[in-house]
Order: sequence, then C-alpha cells, then structure tokens
Amino acid sequence: MAIEHPALPYALDALAPHISRETLELHHGKHHAGYVRKLNAAIEGTPHAGKDLETLIAEGVAFNAAAQTWNHGFYWNSMRPGGGGAPSGRIAAAIDASFGSFASFREAFSGVAAGHFASGWAWLARDAAGQLEVVETHDAGTLAGNDALTPLLVCDVWEHAYYVDYRNARGAYLEAWWNLVNWDFANANLG
Ligand code: FE2
Repeated sequence: MAIEHPALPYALDALAPHISRETLELHHGKHHAGYVRKLNAAIEGTPHAGKDLETLIAEGVAFNAAAQTWNHGFYWNSMRPGGGGAPSGRIAAAIDASFGSFASFREAFSGVAAGHFASGWAWLARDAAGQLEVVETHDAGTLAGNDALTPLLVCDVWEHAYYVDYRNARGAYLEAWWNLVNWDFANANLG
C-alpha cells in the first residue's frame, strides 16, 4: 500500500484569479506529487511500507517528504473557490475570543506569514485550553500529530506557492489568499 497523492478538492482553475491554474499544476502536480513519490521511494521494501502517513510522520520516517505530503493536503483544504470573507460559525466566535476581532486575527496571521524567514508554513491552531494561536513552522515543519496544538488552517509560504503568480511578492499572495480561506474546513477542524 503506497501513500496516495490526493486529488485537489477543486478544479485546477477554480482558485483563479487569486491562484492560477499554472501555479496549481506546478504546486500540486509537481511539488506535492514529488514529495509523495520521494516518500514512497523511501519506504518501499522497508518495514515502514504499509504504515499510514500520520504514523510515518510520528516516527520521523523520511520526515521532510512525509510532512510535506501531509501539509500540502491540509493546505489544499484550507482554501476553496469562493471562500474568504469574514468567518462564520464557531470559528468566528473562537477568533473573536482569542484575537479580539477578525481584523486583529488577520493582521496577526498576515504578519507571521509575511515575516516568516525563507520557506515554511503559517498556521491557525487551537491549544489544549481552546485558545487560538498563530504558529509558524519552518521548512517541512508540521502540526500533524502535535499533542499541544490542533491545526485549523494553514498557508504555504514556500516561494513555490506564489512565485508564478506574484514573483517574490509574498504580501500580494497573502492578500489574495484571504479571498480563498475555507472557513468550513476550519470549523470542521475545531471539532
Ligand atoms: Fe508547497
């Protein structure tokens, strides 16, 4: 049983104009697929073959490929066509309780994502006490399997996520990303 490369949850052109078809072709079809391929190559014929993705990450098996495989799956679901705008449901109340307002949260999240040095990920996460936090992880760093923090949303701030559409203007990509946020996914992850 190989680890699967999950299909995008929408069409390649569904996030345009915020994220183009060309970006998704490269990002999902080359980068994400490449991590899955490397992971499967690393575990094939070893005692790790047949383990699920979360187990491989927890055991640190081919960590970069495994965590990048998981993070990208979470990232695709953190966006949806026609998403964005103000949150609704329980996530809206949780954001207000933790950050004061959606505007304050957005500013905090964009600040962390824009200021993140080099490659990585910006997350909205819930701690054990129910408080929401903005968290950054470097390179393939992940919140998958994290005992203290439950990931609710993630934004990929690797340059491959935005270079085709925005060159090196990460801030422009982040502005666009807010038009895609999948609040239904965040509400589901809130549990
Ligand atoms: Fe990526």
